[in-house]
Amino acid sequence: MKKTFVRCFHSSEEMASSAAELIRETAHNSIARQGFFTLVLSGGKTPEKLFPLLAKKVLFTDMPWDKTYLFWGDERFVSAESADSNFKTANDLLLSKINIPERNIYNMIGNMSETPETNAEQYESKIRQFFHERRSEIISFDLVLLGMGNDGHTASIFPNSAVISENKKLVCAVPAPKAAKPAVPRITMTFQLLNSSRNILFLISGPEKKTIMEKILSSNANIAEIPAAGITPKDELVWYVS
Ligand code: 6PG
Repeated sequence: MKKTFVRCFHSSEEMASSAAELIRETAHNSIARQGFFTLVLSGGKTPEKLFPLLAKKVLFTDMPWDKTYLFWGDERFVSAESADSNFKTANDLLLSKINIPERNIYNMIGNMSETPETNAEQYESKIRQFFHERRSEIISFDLVLLGMGNDGHTASIFPNSAVISENKKLVCAVPAPKAAKPAVPRITMTFQLLNSSRNILFLISGPEKKTIMEKILSSNANIAEIPAAGITPKDELVWYVS
């Protein structure tokens, strides 16, 4: 990992606005370099301020959605109509408001009638196929958005969970978390896949999460206890805190 940055904001609105700018800048740089931009969206509530800003055409007339490909870092194993669905949150606040081709959107759950494990395998295949079709030797997302829970989890990599030590699979099904809500099975990208990305942006709010971040940055964090400490992208790790 080359560089780590921390930016503190007075409000979550200000943080969301800066995050939207960073996404746009990374999109243009990625497209100039390789002709497309891969963005991994996070779940939970924090992105709810970011998505409407990204959807605001007046602010982002030059956001190249036609060359932008969207993925999810994790998803709850619920239908796309459920209020707990990370896809639904993004669809309601962003996807339904922008001109992005359907084929550019890689929903993590393909088929609720299949098991979480099968959906995870199929998602991994789709990711491999995506990069193979673009003759990318390595699988590496341009920008991954991540949140962090008050227990230090990120994506759906929860403390003391088996997926922490997964070093082959890129996407895994994980059982319902004991502490985090909603307590439903999840599908998550693994450290193997997340850390192959170029840049990762954490968006966190609140004093508890800031304290966890400080522990991570001081290298006093045990990855089993604080999985977010296991995030080490290839180029830049950026923490936005409000
Ligand atoms: C999920 C998320 C999860 C989230 C954190 C923070 O599916 O729950 O991906 O990792 O990012 O729990 O959630 P908040 O932003 O709601 O605090």
